[in-house]
Amino acid sequence: MTAKQINAGILGTGYYLPEKILSNSDLEKIVDTSDEWITERTGIKERRIAANDVATSDLALKAAEMALKDAKVSPDELDLIIVATLTSDRIIPSTACIIQDLLGAKRAAAFDLSAACSGFAYGITVASQFIQCGAYRKALVIGAETLSKYINWEDRNTCVLFGDGAGAAVLGQVEDGYGILSFDLGSDGSGGDAIQIPSSGSRMPVSNESIEKRLNLIHMNGKEVFKFAVKAMGNTVKHSLEKIGMKQEEINWLVPHQANIRIIQSAAKRLAMPMEKVIVNIQKYGNMSAACIPIALAEAAAEKRFKKGDIIALSGFGAGLTWASCIIRWSKED
Ligand code: ACO
Repeated sequence: MTAKQINAGILGTGYYLPEKILSNSDLEKIVDTSDEWITERTGIKERRIAANDVATSDLALKAAEMALKDAKVSPDELDLIIVATLTSDRIIPSTACIIQDLLGAKRAAAFDLSAACSGFAYGITVASQFIQCGAYRKALVIGAETLSKYINWEDRNTCVLFGDGAGAAVLGQVEDGYGILSFDLGSDGSGGDAIQIPSSGSRMPVSNESIEKRLNLIHMNGKEVFKFAVKAMGNTVKHSLEKIGMKQEEINWLVPHQANIRIIQSAAKRLAMPMEKVIVNIQKYGNMSAACIPIALAEAAAEKRFKKGDIIALSGFGAGLTWASCIIRWSKED
């Protein structure tokens, strides 16, 4: 006989955004673009940019503190901290270890997770496994990015898309039938070149030459990513639903990765969901990679949009290529 599985769910959420706003009209002064093009092609109106002396962990810490307060969990109760990011403060130590120290989470194991924009959904899936098997009781999962530091501000194809921010969730045991009901994680490394920072690691260490050629910044084949994303976002949610015999119509809220409003609309259409049930904040913040989903989730929770028992589907895709979704029955009272 196998031991009864513990139900893992979200106990609290938090988010933080840098104050500085960069609008489309500000970008018109930097590159050959227009508010009209950016709004029509992406849905983005403005994004947040971290100050020069602000690192990913600074944003992550504020989001984490809000999530812990919301969950009524103290740092010394944490068994695990996962930070999903592609813009860690340094290659070593991990940003998760920096957060562990800053929070004073003395008992927690800590590591970073690299799955780009799918990172938060990957992260809560990983953390929930530890809770479900009884190994850990409380986990903190953060998605945090300072993408502005990896943007080529002369490349209009990419510089209009990205922003900075952090979102977090505290996970722990919830009532039977609630919490994370199902997940789907996937990857296709053959598409790895579609979004990359060519000079950032052991393949091509950063050098004067690579900096001169801007190879230390984000390079993206937008069209290729777009084609992949419109399929991946809807399909991964369908796979998560299939695993628990749930129907699309049962989803109350879709919380998608915020890369492009047209990708979000197409995912909603594939899932036959009206846009009123889709959490969208891309117009305010742009694409913040791993931070998009937890910020959208935390903002919607703070606005009391979710009711206890609501079915929430998280859906992300990103560099790797990767994709991930989770189906959650919301366990918090409003
Ligand atoms: N302003 C004005 N014109 C522009 C801009 C701009 N900012 N950017 C591109 N253009 C031009 C192009 O140069 C092109 O001109 P041309 O026809 O003369 O060559 C024209 O607009 C059309 O370009 P497309 O690439 O066809 O534009 P598209 O409609 O595909 O939109 C976009 C481009 C927004 C990048 C879209 O493809 C997209 O959103 N792709 C997905 C990106 C994504 O999801 N990334 C997420 C992953 S990120 C991660 O994991 C970190």
